[in-house]
Amino acid sequence: MISASASEGTLQLLRTWMATPQDVIPIVGGRNVLIKHPDHIRAVLTDNSFTKETGANRRFRDHVADGVLTAPADRHRAERLLLNAATRDFMTLNCVATEHVEALASLMSWHAARGERVDLTAAMNRLALGVIAEVLFGWTAIDELAEAMAAAMAVLDASGAMLPTQQQLSPVRDRVFRAVHELVELQPPSERGPALTAMIDAAYSRDAIAHQAVTLLLAGHETTANSLAWIWISLIRTPDAYGRWQQQMLAVPRMARAATGNVTREGLRLFPSSWIIGRKSTTDTEIDGTPIPRGCTITISPYVTHRHPQFWPDPERFDPSRHDGSPVHRFAWLPFGAGARMCLGSTYALWEADITLSTLGQRFRFHSDAAETATPRFRYTLGAPPMPVDIQPLGQR
Ligand code: HEM
Repeated sequence: MISASASEGTLQLLRTWMATPQDVIPIVGGRNVLIKHPDHIRAVLTDNSFTKETGANRRFRDHVADGVLTAPADRHRAERLLLNAATRDFMTLNCVATEHVEALASLMSWHAARGERVDLTAAMNRLALGVIAEVLFGWTAIDELAEAMAAAMAVLDASGAMLPTQQQLSPVRDRVFRAVHELVELQPPSERGPALTAMIDAAYSRDAIAHQAVTLLLAGHETTANSLAWIWISLIRTPDAYGRWQQQMLAVPRMARAATGNVTREGLRLFPSSWIIGRKSTTDTEIDGTPIPRGCTITISPYVTHRHPQFWPDPERFDPSRHDGSPVHRFAWLPFGAGARMCLGSTYALWEADITLSTLGQRFRFHSDAAETATPRFRYTLGAPPMPVDIQPLGQR
């Protein structure tokens, strides 16, 4: 497990960055530049002369999975177009997510009746994996995949914000790939989900399918699961906001999902699971007067920008109502990134979050003493710690 001190060290660095008044900060002799103002972020993320070809991106592509998330520019558009439709089948997502959340709600009722606690972080993890595996690929028997992913996550977790060494990574990565190959091979064609069908129709090789599948599972499940876990933690920590949201949903149940949107947005503001985004400059340029030489890495942190005091007063306060009305600045809230490489699953993730939160939020109130002191785990995504909760059924249904 990632040591608390490694994450505390990263948090300290981010706090120093936040406290530095300059919006553009050159580091390592100007070869890396930190930017946090939304105007500068817009300039970088919407300009294709800044590519994703950073060292971290290449390492992920070479040692974890080579798919659309890390694809170089010349391959990216075709891969994105191919997979785009698969992440937009919202009818299927609605049905599958509702079914999985209902099953989780039954399990929670069962535990609540026995006075047993449930680890919310683990529950969100299993839920998000089950939903994405079924919606995109049509896979339902995923016990081995779930275990293989958990083993891989444990290794990634242990290495903090860096990727583990090849030696540490290879065995767990190979296990995930084996599980994926097996699921692809044993599945009858009639049960294939849209992402798999699209790749098979496009004559992707067996290997290319596995790389793309692992990419989508990693990009889509951990991010969503940790976001959900952090939203619950934020609600537990802020009983007024938690109570107000539940009252709104119980007063007008058919509006429950709409009432959840701002809770989701505020959770993603405080705990954006993609907490760091990198780009590489392919030309000599400048940002707000700071020279950016060709080859320079630009580092953006949604975690930092989401606390920029010019746009987010009292930034650490969890306050869903700050999203009432029009956005403060399109690029001041960017949990899904922006531009050509913006998250392919942003709408999918928001739907899944709203279904999960509104369904469980109308049935239960969660309590945990551990929520107050929970701290973010800065690894390649922003992890949530285990969160054992007491479950109080709300009495309806
Ligand atoms: C709350 C959940 C999620 C968050 C916070 C999130 C965040 C992000 C961010 C910030 C990026 C852009 C990275 C960059 O610019 O370098 C990204 C890319 C991506 N995400 Fe998500 N994501 C989430 C859920 C999902 C889901 C559910 C899927 C799949 C269904 C998904 C698939 C992808 C893919 C394929 C890319 C690469 C897009 C490209 O390069 O064209 N994500 N995500």
